[in-house]
Amino acid sequence: MNHELLLQLFENRSGEYVSGERISQELGVSRTAIWKQIRKLEAAGYQFEASRRLGYRLLSTPDHIAVDELSNRMTTGFFGQTIHYFETVESTQNLARAAAEEGAAEGTLFIAEQQVSGRGRMGRSWVSPRGKGVWMSMVLRPKVPIHFAPQLTLLTAVALCRSLRRLTALPIGIKWPNDLLIDGKKISGILLESAAEDERLRYVVAGIGISVNLDEADYPADLLEKATSLRISSGQKWAREDVIFEFLKEWEQLYVLYQEQGFGPIVTLWEALSVSLGKPARLVTPQGDFVGVPIGLDESGAIRIKLEDGTVRPVFSAEMGEPI
Ligand code: BTN
Repeated sequence: MNHELLLQLFENRSGEYVSGERISQELGVSRTAIWKQIRKLEAAGYQFEASRRLGYRLLSTPDHIAVDELSNRMTTGFFGQTIHYFETVESTQNLARAAAEEGAAEGTLFIAEQQVSGRGRMGRSWVSPRGKGVWMSMVLRPKVPIHFAPQLTLLTAVALCRSLRRLTALPIGIKWPNDLLIDGKKISGILLESAAEDERLRYVVAGIGISVNLDEADYPADLLEKATSLRISSGQKWAREDVIFEFLKEWEQLYVLYQEQGFGPIVTLWEALSVSLGKPARLVTPQGDFVGVPIGLDESGAIRIKLEDGTVRPVFSAEMGEPI
């Protein structure tokens, strides 16, 4: 049975119930075939209401990123100049990594409407429901040694924060190293995975997850305390094309600046957007936990933590707990 015909039938009756019998007559198919097709459409993001008495009613159709429109609009030199767009993937990180291994050009972008095994930092999973967010990974080929990779993470956070603030006017800040927060709740995540040879970075796969139009119902209950979306925070829906467009423009500008002038300018921008500086925090590292006050970034990208005895300790990698 052709799902286009079924959808057309519902769309012609804009939001009204259509009985199973009626559908069955009009399309010449069995009630079981209709039920199966509706299940399939639901899995693809369509929402129906079913009533034993009245039949089915189409509530909403899935939102899609208009990739052609986005490509035509793009003003970047190389970020997102090639876009590979998918409906459902395991993780865009895997696709970008495989492409990078095959020699994909810098700036090649993979976008998916839905990830079924989205990955977060520290081996966590990443909630990536269909049609609600920006789930994407890009191939980078920076000409810097491997130990500079954390700088790229901070640079990416700055670009994302600046572009989202410009677009939404929401009070978004950066929690070290790269979480973007609104009122203490996370709205995006950045995951950089690199491949190196000796000291040289062969490529970096930069994964960006932006919770754009997620509703509260899209989050597991335990995450709701810690996570939010642009939609929940602003009370309005955002065009994902605008989010991607603004971010890629900003990200490329900062990336070019970084390659030309080094990390100094990024430090200044990061510090201006940080919500972590000056607030005592617990840092959880593989070598143990300690408490201190983050006071700034150093030139390598480490955060400078002032300890109780007044000494300053640079920290490259840790989980930063709630301010204490
Ligand atoms: C974090 O834990 O904060 C990082 C989350 C990164 C999520 C993005 S979504 C696109 C890309 N694909 C993935 O599987 N993860 C990243």
